[in-house]
Amino acid sequence: MENNVTMDKLVSLCKNRGIIFQGSEIYGGMGNTWDYGPIGVEIKNNIKRAWWKKFVQESDNSFGIDAAILMNSKVWEASGHTTSFSDPKMDCKECKTRHRADNLIENYCAKHKIENVIPDKMSNKEMEDFIEEHKICCPVCGKHNFTPIRQFKLMFETSRGVTEDNTDTIYLRPETAQGEFVNFLNVQRSMRAKVPFGIAQIGKAFRNEITPGNFIFRTIEFEQMEHQLFCKECDDEKFYQEYKQKAWDFLKMLGIDENKLRFKDHDKLAHYAKNACDIQYNFPMGWSELNGIHNRTNYDLSRHQEFSGKSMLYMDPITNEKYIPYVVEYSIGADRLMLAVLCNAYHEEKLENEDRVVLKLAPFIAPYKACVLPLMKKNHSEKAKELHKYLSKYFMCDYDESGSIGKRYRREDEIGTPYAITVDDETLNNGTVTVRDRDTMKQDVVKLEDVKDYILSRCEF
Ligand code: GAP
Repeated sequence: MENNVTMDKLVSLCKNRGIIFQGSEIYGGMGNTWDYGPIGVEIKNNIKRAWWKKFVQESDNSFGIDAAILMNSKVWEASGHTTSFSDPKMDCKECKTRHRADNLIENYCAKHKIENVIPDKMSNKEMEDFIEEHKICCPVCGKHNFTPIRQFKLMFETSRGVTEDNTDTIYLRPETAQGEFVNFLNVQRSMRAKVPFGIAQIGKAFRNEITPGNFIFRTIEFEQMEHQLFCKECDDEKFYQEYKQKAWDFLKMLGIDENKLRFKDHDKLAHYAKNACDIQYNFPMGWSELNGIHNRTNYDLSRHQEFSGKSMLYMDPITNEKYIPYVVEYSIGADRLMLAVLCNAYHEEKLENEDRVVLKLAPFIAPYKACVLPLMKKNHSEKAKELHKYLSKYFMCDYDESGSIGKRYRREDEIGTPYAITVDDETLNNGTVTVRDRDTMKQDVVKLEDVKDYILSRCEF
């Protein structure tokens, strides 16, 4: 059994099995956008559900919200995005493609095993000099002929107004976090929340990323799952460590191989952060950020107090102490996590007479929990359809009657269906079905009346 996944193999499997398609494909696509197909949307929804369960449902004192994507422009002035949310870009003068200078340096250093070069800590001039000195080439055309670095704004702008000359610039949010900060007092008051408490949100974010993405790793439209823990200043480090552990445990719970995960402290802290780290996953293109954990101090709430003129002070009901809480943020992209889950689940196996590709997804993440397969279409499909209809009331259940049973197993393996239920003569005569386990390929004989609980008990989380 091998997990020799490559991005090309994954992209092809995703396209052929209805997991993820190229965005606007019939028009030649649109860079860095992807559409989730019928199988992919189930997997992604299951990942989001698992996150919500862990960080809202099972978390003491955490509350979910769903804030508007379009926010008052002052939010982005307060957060600092309007002035400082940009990437250092260079154009290749030969082939006209655009690149992030920091990525060019990182990739060059990784390839040539050069250590201790940290583009995050370099000025634009230093990056330009490094690229010149090492004659770093354009990854598309292989030539070394770049424009100077320019800062490229990452926020998408749009306008609001009835006529063209009466417009206000507004932005598609580049992170969901600000929706949580601006609702700090609303949630605290309406839910009678006491610090420490958390606000969680899952929602779309947009960034004008021009870097060629690695499939769904870096896209211009993506979903974030973010949790802000509001706490007293003296507790910030305790909660920072706690959320590092919670974030790690969540990835383990999804079945991600711990050997492919590692913590990485930030080399350069953002202007608002006191402490920050990522959990990285060893993707096919190398170790890359999967999620971030930040101690954001009381920067965000203080800035919103300053820009809105509304007090963000919290009063401790026991000590009557008044303060602006500190924030420990945990943030992960649902799409990036989906990519890690897929990479982790992809396996190629050599069987006696053939090879198979199998997605070893944790059952609670799998798009279908089971499939119903009539052994022979003519004799068994009526009973199989009846069973499929019944099981579909309880969980996502597939039905397939076309092709040999072996081919049908292979198709279900490729989308990660954990249990295949075969309806045959025994079902008609004795009321039993065989249930095949995706990973072990062993079969159990189960009574028809027990099959629902048999599946459900194995797919819980
Ligand atoms: N509120 C903090 C924040 O947004 P970030 O490191 O910029 O921090 C958090 O983003 C997470 O969102 C990342 O760890 C990643 O999982 C995901 N993410 C960020 N940009 C992304 C993009 N362009 N495409 C897909 N996921 C992205």
